[in-house]
Amino acid sequence: MADAFDLVVIGAGPGGYECAIKAAQLGLKVACVEKRDRLGGTCLNVGCIPSKALLHASELFHEAGANFADMGIEVSKPKLNLKQMLAFKDEAIDGNTKGIEFLFKKNKIEWVKGEGQIEGPGKVKVGDRTLEAKNIVIATGSGVAKLPGVDIDEKTIVSSTGALELGKVPGKLLVVGGGVIGLELGSVWGRLGAEVTVVEFLDNILPGMDGEVVKNFTRTLKKQGFSFKLGTKVTKVEKQKSGLKVTVEPAKGGDAEELEADIVLVAIGRVAYTEGLGLDKVGVATDKRGRIEVDASLKTSADGIYAIGDVIAGPMLAHKAMEEGVALAERLAGHYGAVNYDVIPGVVYTSPEVASVGKTEEQLKEAGIEYNSGKFPFTANGRAKANKTTEGFVKILADKKTDRVLGVHIIGVNAGEMIAEAAIAMELSASSEDIARMCFAHPTMSEAVKEAALAVTGAPIHM
Ligand code: FAD
Ligand code: NAI
Repeated sequence: MADAFDLVVIGAGPGGYECAIKAAQLGLKVACVEKRDRLGGTCLNVGCIPSKALLHASELFHEAGANFADMGIEVSKPKLNLKQMLAFKDEAIDGNTKGIEFLFKKNKIEWVKGEGQIEGPGKVKVGDRTLEAKNIVIATGSGVAKLPGVDIDEKTIVSSTGALELGKVPGKLLVVGGGVIGLELGSVWGRLGAEVTVVEFLDNILPGMDGEVVKNFTRTLKKQGFSFKLGTKVTKVEKQKSGLKVTVEPAKGGDAEELEADIVLVAIGRVAYTEGLGLDKVGVATDKRGRIEVDASLKTSADGIYAIGDVIAGPMLAHKAMEEGVALAERLAGHYGAVNYDVIPGVVYTSPEVASVGKTEEQLKEAGIEYNSGKFPFTANGRAKANKTTEGFVKILADKKTDRVLGVHIIGVNAGEMIAEAAIAMELSASSEDIARMCFAHPTMSEAVKEAALAVTGAPIHM
């Protein structure tokens, strides 16, 4: 019975690998099927990790050219070695994916290399092997959403994957979609010298984010050189002798316009990936958007088959997939496990960063929940002044009756780190007064969180 397991996980992205590791730590015999030649899924191979490596390197490149002299650091104009920057990114992928391989070995998880297909209840076929499993977890993630009529060749018309690999800095980069990928990867190439235009179907970028943050952030990106065509759709991309001709139209109808670009990045969302899994053979139901349907315990419509991460509904974020993987493993091993979907932070790793957790003002208004809002700008924060990183603010939204914190929205340098303290507060059902009465180290950017909390029902000290 060498091929019999307590748990077979299909897909070794953040959801799948964390589920496998937790289950093994809790004593289950686990196999994880992964068809890529590295573990770590989209996130480690073509997503979170490589994009953050390029964001980091390109930000330092830009900083060295723009702000070092102000601090008395005199360097000659930085010169881009793109090949080396891409190698730096590849090293980050290598280090992280090898780390997961090490953790699999340490926890005695078998990595079954190849494409998994569910053959029947408790059976997963991989090549000529059939794995038997008491439970199966589908963690196959997502793929790039296609723009009808626009063929991605990953050379001049690219998805995020191609945009992490461009051989030279494009003169003109046209991004279709003003979401997280478009703004992060647009920032990378913009800092390296590309002229970036974002074409967004809706009237605002980052749909779903707090409106005040979006307004402020749009202004910041424009200052950085981004051009936006909002309320606009791309209808055609044609290859020319040199470059691309992009036809756009107002989303609500109107006259078409032609734009030129060297590279077009299609970043209009991602779709659940279930190709070749054999879901119909075992009666696993999907919704209208192709996502696997699960109940509150992450069980699909078929007994013994569960699903987590991007392949089910909810935010397509690595840490959401991870939390689901761990909670599910805990339950399958006979313990308690749960995900608090009300407290899942989201971060856009641009400069400054944008981070949020909980409800936006728009969501609270729509739900008819009365709230108080406290805001504190980084222009009044000592550390931010010392570092000359005064852009942005912290905003805390708290229930008018109970003062319980319902949402926190930050735009500013290191907002992605600061949002963790807001998430802890919310997870522990803190009130804004609880945060306001805490002692924060000085001087830190985080003091703006305390000051925003003070502003919810009273007044901040430094304003
Ligand atoms: P995935 O990571 O997609 O992993 C699924 C794995 O399953 C893949 O490796 C695939 O090869 C494998 N697979 C699929 N079918 C089979 C099969 N039949 N047999 C065997 N293997 C199979 N999220 C964040 O939280 N923070 C970020 O900063 C961030 N940055 C991103 C940047 C980019 C450019 C992109 C594209 C995404 C980013 N994301 C980020 C989103 C994040 O990558 C996903 O939310 C996360 O990877 C989802 O994890 P998952 O485990 O559900 O699936
Ligand atoms: P997204 O859903 O964030 O944004 C897509 C944008 O494209 C939206 O603003 C949408 O209105 C627009 N759009 C859709 N169709 C369009 C069309 N035809 N023309 C013009 N605009 C159109 O999707 P994105 O940026 O592709 O990212 C995919 C997923 O990856 C997201 O769900 C995100 O959560 C995840 N991700 C997370 C990151 C992070 O956490 N920092 C970084 C990168 C990706």
